[in-house]
Amino acid sequence: MSEQEDTFVRTFSLVLGMLVVFMILIIFAARLVAPAVENAADRGRDPMKVAAMLENIEPLGQVAVGEAGAAAPQAARSGKEIFDAVCAACHATGALNAPKLGDQEAWAPRIKQGAKHILEDAINGIRAMPPRGGDPSLTDDDMKAVVGYMLEKVGVKDAYGAPAPKASAAPAPAASADAGKGKQVYEQACFACHGTGAAGAPKLGDKAAWKARIAQGADALNDHALKGLNAMPAKGGRPDLADVDVVAAVDYMVGKSK
Ligand code: HEC
Ligand code: HEC
Repeated sequence: MSEQEDTFVRTFSLVLGMLVVFMILIIFAARLVAPAVENAADRGRDPMKVAAMLENIEPLGQVAVGEAGAAAPQAARSGKEIFDAVCAACHATGALNAPKLGDQEAWAPRIKQGAKHILEDAINGIRAMPPRGGDPSLTDDDMKAVVGYMLEKVGVKDAYGAPAPKASAAPAPAASADAGKGKQVYEQACFACHGTGAAGAPKLGDKAAWKARIAQGADALNDHALKGLNAMPAKGGRPDLADVDVVAAVDYMVGKSK
């Protein structure tokens, strides 16, 4: 080999060797970088990132919900929503001596007057209680929903029958629903004595037997029906009946016996 050839081979090997080393380095570098690259791609699926993206989208979604809410009738507001918005000011705090939500003791004497009476007071106002809680935009159905909610919190369920949607589907007037309840309770729990005169009970429709009793006033009649009187057992012997239901039955009996 001439000296020239020798130099060429050495230079060539050197360059080739450097290329190989360089390639190995590149492969290593690629391996090192790869996880970082994958991570970056993954970030699109990162829950935090997605949550942040949704947050940005939410205002649009809220606008849509707001519009749907405005289009829906007011009656769709639940008793609880109305209570929180309008009645809580006094009835959550007891301001002005308002009976507090869930306060059995404060509500007991009111419940004795009957659910219908309570609703009328809430609609028309009574003493420091403003008509419709001071919000004239509340409909009678709204008032039923919210007073029903308040009564439910002291153990009186479905005081004004099924919630509004059902009532509007089958437009049965509320008054007849009330009377229906009284009749139903009477037939189930009171008829045994008051239909027959058993145990000396004043019979339904017997005006003479009821005259003096009715003259005592509704409060006394309701009280006797709830607590019992001589041979008349408390709630007609049905402690499971709600006070309002017994009062509804008394209303029904009195109505038939005047
Ligand atoms: C400004 C205060 C105030 C607001 C607001 C208010 N109430 Fe009252 N509410 C009272 C007071 C005080 C009483 C007790 C009145 C009494 O018996 O002297 C009362 C009594 C009642 C009673 C019992 C009535 C009865 O026959 O014993 C009902 C039911 C009632 N409120 C419902 C509501 C409803 C429903 C709302 C909201 C739509 C509402 N209130 C908002 C102050 C308020
Ligand atoms: C076991 C028989 C019996 C049953 C059941 C019964 N009662 Fe009576 N009830 C009587 C008798 C007896 C009297 C008369 C009591 C007296 O004046 O001494 C009476 C009286 C009454 C009075 C008049 C009270 C007064 O102040 O004069 C009312 C109101 C009344 N009952 C409601 C009801 C209701 C509501 C039911 C059903 C939930 C019912 N009763 C079930 C026997 C019964």
